[in-house]
Amino acid sequence: MAARKLRHVTSINDLSNEEIEKVFDLAERYLEKLPDSTYPYRIGSSARDGSGHILASLFYEPSTRTRLSFESAMLRLGGQFITSADPATSSVAKGESLADTVRVISNYSDVIVLRHPRDGAARLAAEYATVPVINGGDGAHEHPTQTLCDLFTLRKENKQLRDLNVVVSGDLKGSRTIHSFVYALARFGANIMTMPAKGMGLPHHVDARLQEEFNCRPLPRHKYEDKNASIDALYVTPDKPHQLSLIPNVEFDDTADVKIRSKVDVFYVTRFQKERWAEASEEYPRIDAKFLKASKYAETSVLHPLPRVGELDIALDTDSRALYFQQAAYGVPIRMALIALLTDIAVGEQLPRFENGFDEADVTTYSQPPDLGMRCGNPNCIVHDPQERAYTRNKFTVLHRAAAKAYRLRCFYCEADIDEFVAVNTRRRKILPGEAEIGETIAEGPESLLIFADHAEAASHGFAESRSA
Ligand code: NCD
Repeated sequence: MAARKLRHVTSINDLSNEEIEKVFDLAERYLEKLPDSTYPYRIGSSARDGSGHILASLFYEPSTRTRLSFESAMLRLGGQFITSADPATSSVAKGESLADTVRVISNYSDVIVLRHPRDGAARLAAEYATVPVINGGDGAHEHPTQTLCDLFTLRKENKQLRDLNVVVSGDLKGSRTIHSFVYALARFGANIMTMPAKGMGLPHHVDARLQEEFNCRPLPRHKYEDKNASIDALYVTPDKPHQLSLIPNVEFDDTADVKIRSKVDVFYVTRFQKERWAEASEEYPRIDAKFLKASKYAETSVLHPLPRVGELDIALDTDSRALYFQQAAYGVPIRMALIALLTDIAVGEQLPRFENGFDEADVTTYSQPPDLGMRCGNPNCIVHDPQERAYTRNKFTVLHRAAAKAYRLRCFYCEADIDEFVAVNTRRRKILPGEAEIGETIAEGPESLLIFADHAEAASHGFAESRSA
């Protein structure tokens, strides 16, 4: 039998739509094993297939649901867990890097779930670990397994994602749950309405990715404005199967607004991410029964990744639209399924196995040692963590944007974008004046390309301006 490919889940985009469905199908099986219970949120009887397997939970940030549901999931699979949930008690406090830590823990476990305050930490861990790494939340980057719980909750409500009208509210800038969630919504063809707290809209790179990579298109404001006009933007996806490709400006009919105005299927609330921002937030949306009184919310499913800290009224808990405790409960079967599919836990012959992920063959990855060339511009990126500096590289995916006739860099770790940079050809020792020359240099081989923040930095390394034609 061919060796199993090591798979990590650092982003929701590490899983294809089909693979997400496979996780759900398997999670359903773990749910089916449940005994009837008088307590509605008790989930999981034990499958014993994971006997002998160990999950390592490595948490550098507080957690209740994610860590405990992963650990519960492994126990319910028949396996065991080891945990490091307080950085003060591990060698991190002595200055040990994440990279070294996961290399060591790979020998103690079969799968690692990581939570870390830095954006892109999961990608760094995946570069060094020799067992699968699952991202349990990395800074403001992503929280893919929360999204699996969110989507599964909607599936259990029989809500098909295609054309679903979903409002996401609160701190859309700092909520990693939102970033994974909106990518998945776009990929499955839902319509996304953003209702951010003041100044807390989706980060630029998430917005760009929704549009350029996942074929979402923001509708002009007049198409969706109504009396209760707190929606900041509305993205719709074209009526055709999602393809993970860089197709800009897909043409489609945007008469969908009538439907969108009249019905909201899902309302996803998030808390202010106080640990990520220096300033308190003003005008934070607070959702309660009064807010949800309008007829368009009559059948709305209310989701929240939890914890809530005042933005979601507890009086809603007994409302049949409130699904957030159920959403948290599904963490166990979902994480059981994900662990089983990523490790070699036997899950029955007829069960699907992960195929290869997305084809990355035509994506150019640029990589240089950390002391050479441009660094990621996101100050919270893992590359800027002094403990990790020696273990990271200036590493970017080089994306061609056909519509803009330009290239963009996406940080390999945190996936933040850089549009402004200066590229040089190392063989010809010239600064590249435009898109065409960058393309030619990439075609010569990525080692011919070197990227600097600006002309002055390129010049200081001896690269001259190309003479214009
Ligand atoms: C979320 C997180 O950690 O990002 N919590 C969770 O895992 N359910 C949401 C949050 O902390 O706001």
